[in-house]
Amino acid sequence: MVDKKQIKSDTGSNRVPTGIPGFDELCGGGLLRNRTYLVSGAAGAGKTIFGLQYLYNGITKYGENGIFIATEERPEQVRENVKQFGWDFQKLEDEGKLAILDACSTKIGIPSHEKYVDVRPFDMRSMLDQIIAIQEDIDAKRAMVDGTTSIGYYLTDISKIRVELLKLSTTLEILGLTSLMTCEIIDENMASRFGVETFVTEGTIVLYYKRTDTVRVRSVEIFKMRGTNHSQNTHPYEITPNGIVVHPHEEVYTD
Ligand SMILES: Nc1ncnc2c1ncn2[C@@H]1O[C@H](COP(=O)(O)OP(=O)(O)OP(=O)(O)O)[C@@H](O)[C@H]1O
Ligand SMILES: [Mg+2]
Repeated sequence: MVDKKQIKSDTGSNRVPTGIPGFDELCGGGLLRNRTYLVSGAAGAGKTIFGLQYLYNGITKYGENGIFIATEERPEQVRENVKQFGWDFQKLEDEGKLAILDACSTKIGIPSHEKYVDVRPFDMRSMLDQIIAIQEDIDAKRAMVDGTTSIGYYLTDISKIRVELLKLSTTLEILGLTSLMTCEIIDENMASRFGVETFVTEGTIVLYYKRTDTVRVRSVEIFKMRGTNHSQNTHPYEITPNGIVVHPHEEVYTD
C-alpha cells in the first residue's frame, strides 16, 4: 500500500491538473500530459460530470481549451445540465474556448443544428476527421469522449473495439490532447464494459456509487495510472452545487 505522504506533487508542466478539488493530490498533481485516461463507473456514477468539470476547469483555471465529444447526450442537454453548477458552456463556446461535437443526434436519427456534427451513425474515421477539424479551430489541450460504450456497440468483436479505441486515443495524443474517455460498467469488479478499454489507456479512474445500509455512497479509485505513484485507496466524493469534491484524506472500504 502506498503511503499518501509519499505521493509527491509533480508541479512540472508535464502534469495536467483536473482542478477537481481533492483529486489531483491522489495522483501526484494531475494527469500526465498527452495521455488518455478512462473514467469508468455504473450509470449515474458521475462520469459525465467528472469529465465536464475537467474541461471547464481547464478553460477557466488553466487557460487550456477543451473539446467535448458527446455520443450519449445531445449538446443542448449538456449545456442545460451544467448550468446547475454555474458553468456557462455556451459562453465558452462563443469565445472559441470550448467545442462540443454532436456525435449523438445522428446516431438516434434526429437532425442537429450544432456547429460540429458527426454525420455518420458511427464511423471512427469520420469522427477523427471531425476532431482534427475542431482542433484546427480552437487549439485545445483537453478532450473528453463521453462515452466509449456506445462506440463499442457498433463494433462486433473485441479485437476490433480494441483497435478502434487505440486509434482514437492515439489520435488524441498526437493532437496534443490530454483526454478522458468514459465507459459504463455493469459489473463493478470489472474496470471497463468490454474488458479492453483499460488496455488502451494510460490510466483508469473508477467511480463507484454503492449502497451501504440505507444510503448510497459515491467514491473514486485510481485503478491504474502509468508513470504515477498514485493512491491505492478508495476515497469518498460528493456532487455539490459547485460540482465534484473528493475527500482525499478519507477512505471508503468496498468489498
Ligand atoms: N446538483 C447535483 N447535486 C447532487 N447530485 C447531482 C447533481 N446533479 C447531478 N447529480 C447526480 O449525478 C448523477 C448524474 O451524473 P452523471 O451524468 O455524471 O453520471 P454518469 O456516470 O455519466 O451516468 P451515465 O452512465 O448514465 O451517463 C445523477 O444521477 C445525480 O445522482
Ligand atoms: Mg454520462
